[in-house]
Amino acid sequence: MDERKRVLSLIQPSGVPTIGNYLGAFKNWRAMQENYDCLFGAADLHAITVRTEPKTLRENTRSIFALLLAVGIDPEKSVVFVQSRVPEHAQLAWLLNCCTQFGEAARMTQFKDKSATHADNINVGLFAYPTLMAADILLYQADYVPVGQDQKQHLELTRTIAERFNFSYGETFTVPEPFIGKSGARIMSLQEPSKKMSKSDLNTKAFISMLDEPSVITKKIKSAVTDSEAKVRFAPGKDGVNNLMDIYSCCTGKDYEAIEREFDGHGYGDFKNAVAEALVSELGPVQGEYKRLISDKAYIDSRAAEGSRTAELFARRTLAKAMRKMGFYDPDGR
Ligand code: TYM
Repeated sequence: MDERKRVLSLIQPSGVPTIGNYLGAFKNWRAMQENYDCLFGAADLHAITVRTEPKTLRENTRSIFALLLAVGIDPEKSVVFVQSRVPEHAQLAWLLNCCTQFGEAARMTQFKDKSATHADNINVGLFAYPTLMAADILLYQADYVPVGQDQKQHLELTRTIAERFNFSYGETFTVPEPFIGKSGARIMSLQEPSKKMSKSDLNTKAFISMLDEPSVITKKIKSAVTDSEAKVRFAPGKDGVNNLMDIYSCCTGKDYEAIEREFDGHGYGDFKNAVAEALVSELGPVQGEYKRLISDKAYIDSRAAEGSRTAELFARRTLAKAMRKMGFYDPDGR
C-alpha cells in the first residue's frame, strides 16, 4: 500500500506567472515532490471565466506547462496535466454545484473582486469557479493543497463541500488541508504594498513576471515603494519593506532577524540591490530552462498528453464512486 500523502495544486494559464506565483506556490510544489505523491497542472477551464482569445488560451496553456517543468516539476516524479483534458473535472463540478449553497459561493472574496474588475462579464462560470476548484481537488483525493494565502477561502469551501457530501452520501472524499508556506504566501504589489501582487495589474511596475529580464527585475525592485524610515526591519506599517524582506527571505532562506542584521547600518539602496540580485539568480536557471523547453513543442505536447491520461485514470475512479453514491443509474450495473 502506498503510504505517501497526496498533493494537488493547479495554476491558471492566464499570462506569465509572477514571482508571487513562484514564491507562493511553485517553490513549495517543487519541494513537495520529494515526499508526496503530487499532481500539478494548468487550470485552463478556470481561465475562461475571464474573456480570453482562443489563440491566447492555447499558447498560455502550453507555456504554463513548459514553465512548470522549467521550475523543476519533474514529470517522472509528479503527474503534470491539463485540466480540460480530463473531462471528469467538469462532470464532478456539476455534482458539487448541487451540493453548494448560493450564499456560500456568493461570499467568496475572489468572486466579489473579479465581479468588480470584470463588471461587463459576470458570468455563471465566475460564480461557480470554487466548485470547479473543489472538483479539481476532490477528484484526486488530495490530502494537501499547496497554495498562496489568497486561495485559503476556496480551500475552506472545498472542505465544507467534501464534509457535506460525505455526510449525505457516505464516506467518498478525502477532506483536504491547505498547505500555506511560512514565507512567500502573500507577495504584495511593489507599487501598492497593501495589495496582492497580481499579473493582471495594469501597472506593470507593480509585479515582476517570472520571465522578466534581469535588467527589468532590477529596475522594478529599485522603484518599489518603501518608507521614509530608511531602516531594514520587519514591522507593522512597513508594508513595502516587509514585502521586500519576504521576497529576499524566500530566495535566500534567511529569516527576518538575519536579514535585519545583514543590513544593519545600510540604506534601502543596498538592500534593494541585494533583493534584485537574489531574485535574478533564483529565476535565471528557470528562465534558461523555459527557453529551451518552449522551443521543443513536440516534447511539451507529449508530456502534457501523457500526464493528462494518467490524471484521468485517477479521476475516473473517483467520479464513478461519487456518482454511485449519489444514486445515478448505471445500466452497465457496475
Ligand atoms: P492562480 O492561478 O491565481 O495562482 C496560482 C498559485 O499562485 C498563488 N499566488 C500567490 N502566492 C503568493 N503571493 C501572490 N501574490 C500570489 N498570487 C498567486 C495562488 O495562491 C495559487 O496557489 N484558483 C487557483 C487555481 C486552481 C487551483 C485548483 C489551486 C484551480 N484549481 C485546485 C489549487 C487547487 C488560482 O486562481 O490560482
